[in-house]
Amino acid sequence: MIPPKQVQEILDATRIEEVIEEFVTLKRRGVNLIGLCPFHGERTPSFNVNPARNIFKCFGCGKAGDAITFLKEHENLTYPEALRWLARKYHIEVQEIERTPEQLAEIQLADSLYIVNEFALQHFQQQLFDTDEGKSVALAYFRKRGLREDTIRAFGLGYAPDERDLLLRKARSTGHSPELLKKTGLISQDDSRDFFRARVMFAIHNMSGKVAAFAGRTMSAEKTIPKYINSPETEIYVKNKILYGAYQAKKAIRQLDECLLVEGYMDVISLHQAGIENVVASSGTSLTDGQLQLIRRNTQNLKILYDGDPAGIKAALRGLDLALEQDLNVRICLLPDGHDPDSYVQEFGGEQFKKYTTENAKDFIFFKTDLLLGETKGDPIKRAGLVKDIVSSIARIPDPIKRSVYLKECSALLEVSEEVLHAEANKLIGQTIRKKEEKAARQPGAASDHSMPPPPVWSDDFTQATDPGAFFPPTEAGELPPEWGEASAPRPVERKAAAEYQERDIIRLLIQFGGQVLPHEQTTVGEYVLADIEESLGDFDNPLYSRVAAECHALLMEGKSFDQHYFIQHESADVANLAIDVLAEPWEFSPNWEAMWNYPLQNQPMPERNFILDMKQALDRFKLKKVQKMCALNLTRVQNASKEGDHDAMIRYMKIQQKLNETRNEIAQRVGTVVFGK
Ligand code: UTP
Ligand code: MN
Repeated sequence: MIPPKQVQEILDATRIEEVIEEFVTLKRRGVNLIGLCPFHGERTPSFNVNPARNIFKCFGCGKAGDAITFLKEHENLTYPEALRWLARKYHIEVQEIERTPEQLAEIQLADSLYIVNEFALQHFQQQLFDTDEGKSVALAYFRKRGLREDTIRAFGLGYAPDERDLLLRKARSTGHSPELLKKTGLISQDDSRDFFRARVMFAIHNMSGKVAAFAGRTMSAEKTIPKYINSPETEIYVKNKILYGAYQAKKAIRQLDECLLVEGYMDVISLHQAGIENVVASSGTSLTDGQLQLIRRNTQNLKILYDGDPAGIKAALRGLDLALEQDLNVRICLLPDGHDPDSYVQEFGGEQFKKYTTENAKDFIFFKTDLLLGETKGDPIKRAGLVKDIVSSIARIPDPIKRSVYLKECSALLEVSEEVLHAEANKLIGQTIRKKEEKAARQPGAASDHSMPPPPVWSDDFTQATDPGAFFPPTEAGELPPEWGEASAPRPVERKAAAEYQERDIIRLLIQFGGQVLPHEQTTVGEYVLADIEESLGDFDNPLYSRVAAECHALLMEGKSFDQHYFIQHESADVANLAIDVLAEPWEFSPNWEAMWNYPLQNQPMPERNFILDMKQALDRFKLKKVQKMCALNLTRVQNASKEGDHDAMIRYMKIQQKLNETRNEIAQRVGTVVFGK
């Protein structure tokens, strides 16, 4: 466990932009940094990072949080792992408190799965390097396949001897739970046998270099034995989100601005050893969107290198359409007969490999046309099918300019007029859009981006501020009934949320400045605010805001403090989301806003520059709202008493009304709002 003092030290040292830049290319835009969101596929950046507040938010998919959240989501880390990751990055030496067996049992599952995998890796490596059998059988095998020792170590290769339960026994004797080994798939379900036996081992790393799974290859040529077996999917091994070799390739892919995609483990390793490091493998499974997004985050240029056999060609074609949809520029290179990238580079070397793939990589359209033309052999019906097939690939390219360049190319190649091709492509695009719309309509809460309201104008006069809760499409779009038209949709939502604006503002103060000490006073903003509205604590209309306020109050009562980090990391997701939303509100609008609404955004003052004023105004607006509500309520009492002829009650309520009106006017004057008295 990391002691709390050090946790604070780590958090203080953390700069969110430095953390995120390890994974996402960011560009400066005003006070923020923007980039392509790593959590969903997109082509125009809507992923915002705000260094001043140490938070990020994607306006496309709604993901948001601080550096810890980012690491948890993006790298699949647990909270303590994320802290350790940050500690390493900022060279903070963590003095972990020794774990007791009970605490050990408590650490989260993912954490323990990584630990078990790390243990297994060490075991497999030890079997490979430090045993006679390992050296004579497995190490010899790797050598025969042309691998050097540094490569073998860099890729975490190992050996699992042909023994029933060697790993299991070792685990038991070193205190690793068989239960966890079973969870990672390292031992059989009845936990009596090792899963990997008589195989050379390949560690499969996630993007941050942790061992997520293993693959084992038989050294036997016996056809009845499966060549490779792989760990099953687990919490830490989600197959469609992991690309083999991506961890080792990440840097080179960015530097060279190109990613090579191969099929096999050995292809990645041999190419890497030959100095071609920007290479990843889909590991035999067909390529998924998730994997392509991993690539797209690092480069837009993909070169698919598959075997020239029919299976390789088929696999290449399958990956092609998906890659086009992700707006990747795709080139395809088939290797000469009988070769895969591994065998080719082992035989001819890295330089020749580069030469061959540069000369033979075809842009996807030439690749597909050549291939299919060969198949049609002048048959006019097949030829028509071919044209459709190619156009359907082109129609997947999201960029209209690129699309039209390809259609032109295609028209020349196939001798079909460009107009016809354009018409065909447009038909397909129309169909896709309609399908998407139908799907969206079936899913409540998935309203399209166009339903966003025009941006609010932020001014110094807070009383005129529109409800910030309506700023963000992800939350408010969710409240739109599907039948609302595009232009009229936002209005009712805005009004409904506006009634809660004052409450939300109080919550924002608590989250944003709760722990901040007021200058010249001994109290924090949190204490001041809650003391000031103590009697209204039960009166929050919005249940979520009410919960947050009550929780803050309880914390202070226990002598505990809170800050924005506390809320961002809140165990309850709706509180954490609320925290991000209120923190994000004043600093950035959706990047599409200006373009979409042709509406220039105004600059806003950063509230932290004058948070005392901000606080007092928020408190006054909150109280004003509550007093107004009480006024209205009391007025009906007056009216009822009058109707019933209860003179005493009427006098009593009218006195109260007078008092309420006075209070209301007093606050209103401070706030600067004109109240039309009744
Ligand atoms: P290949 O059969 O082309 O093997 O499978 P390879 O990569 O050339 O392997 P070597 O060179 O003979 O060692 C391509 C990829 O498909 C997956 C593996 O990821 C393999 O690298 N695969 C293949 C399996 O998962 N299981 C299998 O039984 C075979
Ligand atoms: Mn091979």
